[in-house]
Amino acid sequence: MKLISGNSNRPLAEAVSECLKVPLTQAVMKRFSDNEIFVEIGDNVRGQDVFLIQSTSYPANDNLMELLITIDALRRGSARRVTAVVPYFGYARQDRKTGPRTPISAKLVANLITKAGADRVLTLELHAGQIQGFFDIPVDNLIIAPVFVPDIQKRFAGRDVAIVSPDVGGVVRARALAKRLEADLAIIDKRREKAGVSEVMNVIGDVEGRVCIMVDDIVDSGGTLCNAAEALKKNGATEVWSYVVHGVLSGRAVERIDSSALEGLVITDTIQPTDLVRHARNIERLSVAPLLGDAILRISDERSVSALFV
Ligand code: R5P
Repeated sequence: MKLISGNSNRPLAEAVSECLKVPLTQAVMKRFSDNEIFVEIGDNVRGQDVFLIQSTSYPANDNLMELLITIDALRRGSARRVTAVVPYFGYARQDRKTGPRTPISAKLVANLITKAGADRVLTLELHAGQIQGFFDIPVDNLIIAPVFVPDIQKRFAGRDVAIVSPDVGGVVRARALAKRLEADLAIIDKRREKAGVSEVMNVIGDVEGRVCIMVDDIVDSGGTLCNAAEALKKNGATEVWSYVVHGVLSGRAVERIDSSALEGLVITDTIQPTDLVRHARNIERLSVAPLLGDAILRISDERSVSALFV
C-alpha cells in the first residue's frame, strides 16, 4: 500500500500515516510561474494499491485540480489501483439544478475524478448520500458516528440531551446520531412566508430545559447554526452545542460563532483549519484520522468497511 498526500491537508495525511504506520510516499507538487500545477511522484508505484489523500476544500479549484493531476500521474506511473481519499468533498452542495440553466457541479466533479483515473473514492459524510450515485466507480461514504458519539457521551454524561437538526435537509443524519445516543430528536423548520420577509424558525420537538446538540455536515458562514441556536434558546434550551463534520468556516464565520448563543462548536480535521479557527474561543476539533486509517486498511485488505459502523 502507498499513501500520498496532496497539499490541501497535509497534517491529516500525516496523522493517517501515523495511525497506519505507513510512511507518506514522497511527491513533488509545485507551481510553474504561470501557476499551472506540476506533480512528480518520488517513489515507484507500479502495481501498488495507492491512496491519495486530498480534500477539495478552499481553494477548492486549485485543490481539485491538484487531485486530478496527481491521479493522472499515478495512472501513468502504472499504479494497480488508485483510491481518491477525499475527506471533504467540495462542490457537494450543488447536487441538483436549482433553476433553469444551472449546473450540477457535484456530478461534474464526480465525472472529473473518474475520468482522471481513480478506481474508487473514499469520503466522509457527503452532503447528500445520493452523490455516491454520481460516480460509476465504488464510493465508500463514511459516517461520522464513531468520532462524534463517544465525545458526546463523555461530554454530556448524565445530562438531558436533545439532538437537533438545524434544517429539514439534515434530519436523516441527526436522527441516526440520536438513535445511537438513545436521545430525542428535534428539528428546526425554517420558513420564509414571503420574499423579503425574514425567516421564521419553528422548533419541532421538545427542547425546553435540555442541552441541545445540533448536528450538521457543513458549517460555512455559520448563519444556519447561529440562527438555529438563538431559536433553540428562545424555546427554552439550557445550553446549545453543535457538532459539525466539515468546518468550512468562510468569511466572518468564526467571529459570528464567537458572538452567538452557541456554547461550543465541535468540528473535525477534514479541512485544515486556519489560524483563526485554531485559536477560536468556542471551536474544538476532533480527528478523523483513525477512522480514515481503519477504512483505508479495510479497503486495502478487501474487508468490509460498513463493519466499522455496527
Ligand atoms: C446545508 O444544507 C448544509 O447542510 C449546511 O447546513 C450549510 O451548508 C451551512 O451553511 P452556513 O454555515 O453558511 O449557514
